[in-house]
Amino acid sequence: MLMLNRFNNDFILAFLFYVPFPGQSMTTTTTNKILRPLFTTVFIVMVFIIIFMLYVKPSSNFSYNQVEPTSLKNGAKRVPKTNTSLTIVLVWHWPFGQTFKLDNCSSAFNIKDCFITADKNLYNRSHGVIFHHRDIARDLSNLPQQQRPPFQKWIWMNLESPSHSPQLSGINNLFNVTLNYRQDSDIKGTYGIIVPTKTAENFVPPKKDKLVCWIVSNWNPGHRRVQYFNELHKHIEIHTYGQAFRNKISGEDYMSIMTSCKFYLSFENSIHKDYITEKMYNPLAVGTVPVVLGTSRQNYENFIQGDSFIHVDDFKSPKELAEYLLIANKNEQMYLGFFKWRQNFKSHNYGSWSMRTCHACEYLQKHKEYKAINDLNKWYWG
Ligand SMILES: *[C@@H]1O[C@H](CO)[C@@H](O)[C@H](O)[C@H]1NC(C)=O
Ligand SMILES: *[C@@H]1O[C@H](CO)[C@@H](O)[C@H](O)[C@H]1NC(C)=O
Ligand SMILES: *[C@@H]1O[C@H](CO)[C@@H](O)[C@H](O)[C@H]1NC(C)=O
Ligand SMILES: *[C@@H]1O[C@H](CO)[C@@H](O)[C@H](O)[C@H]1NC(C)=O
Repeated sequence: MLMLNRFNNDFILAFLFYVPFPGQSMTTTTTNKILRPLFTTVFIVMVFIIIFMLYVKPSSNFSYNQVEPTSLKNGAKRVPKTNTSLTIVLVWHWPFGQTFKLDNCSSAFNIKDCFITADKNLYNRSHGVIFHHRDIARDLSNLPQQQRPPFQKWIWMNLESPSHSPQLSGINNLFNVTLNYRQDSDIKGTYGIIVPTKTAENFVPPKKDKLVCWIVSNWNPGHRRVQYFNELHKHIEIHTYGQAFRNKISGEDYMSIMTSCKFYLSFENSIHKDYITEKMYNPLAVGTVPVVLGTSRQNYENFIQGDSFIHVDDFKSPKELAEYLLIANKNEQMYLGFFKWRQNFKSHNYGSWSMRTCHACEYLQKHKEYKAINDLNKWYWG
């Protein structure tokens, strides 16, 4: 459009210079003074009217859910018309307003016969529609207002904990499927995964030059993790980074700092069942021992080997934890013991929005049966 506009301007200027004005041949300058601006104005107006009619199409199909300008970007192609066996999944909200690449589920995750789109024109044909909780308007006004096709399932997607998800009274009896980090959700959106290595390997943790580190951006004195930190750091030196400490670090530094520490404070922002985030999976992946604060040790052990991490609840007080960490610092064998699990397993940060949408598609293919979530509020916040 910008190019077009520039072209138009040049076009108009060219006309003004080359078209002889009726008053031009006259010798009286007064006529010229009056006529020339008049003709120029009339001419410009006419040119603009013509250009307007040529380039601006009447907006006939303005509907309530006009396709967002971004919706056909990100590799989304038009759904192949002849193929009716594809499962169509419509991403209604970009999570937190940020677009992501809509992968071909077959080549990216080996999930066949899916078509993931953000094109709201495909609403009527979509087998599943994904809504991201944090992007749902309080009054639900940004949900589809059209009638829901009988085969269509609405997928509630949320990876934030209940403490960081606004409770919306209107969301009961709307959704059919949940996509969440909770293990009892329909589609699991866990933050990480522990997978077996192909062969047993002797894992040696990378070189360390710091004992305890913490990177945190969101500082809230009401958070249990802040209260714990305020006590803990009286007894042991903690290298702190992130916005909360006015010590912002880049994405690359994040991993290298984490790697350079023997222990990392994997303190979750809130404490909820199954709410275990990249704050634990990242240190595990780089060979650093997480000191976790979050759900119970028993719950952590549903996800990861019990001897691979330290839980703050294992100690009576932050002071006792500090003493333990100082002992582990001196005792090489004790420290290496935290990596026994790594002989046969490794940790992966897991899951992109793209992967989750493909998993949603796979779920829909396997679950054609009727299903409704009639009390989402009680399930999540209750
Ligand atoms: C996805 O990729 C496969 C090849 O890996 C191709 O056959 C298929 O048509 C693609 N699907 C879509 C929806 O683009
Ligand atoms: C539809 O696509 C699938 C794979 O994406 C393919 O196996 C099937 O033959 C296609 N059907 C038609 C009618 O083109
Ligand atoms: C979807 O179908 C409904 C009727 O069930 C119709 O009113 C609506 O216009 C259709 N929307 C689109 C985008 O095709
Ligand atoms: C999905 O849930 C809604 C709301 O409970 C319900 O009206 C609809 O029939 C369900 N659809 C399917 C296909 O399960």
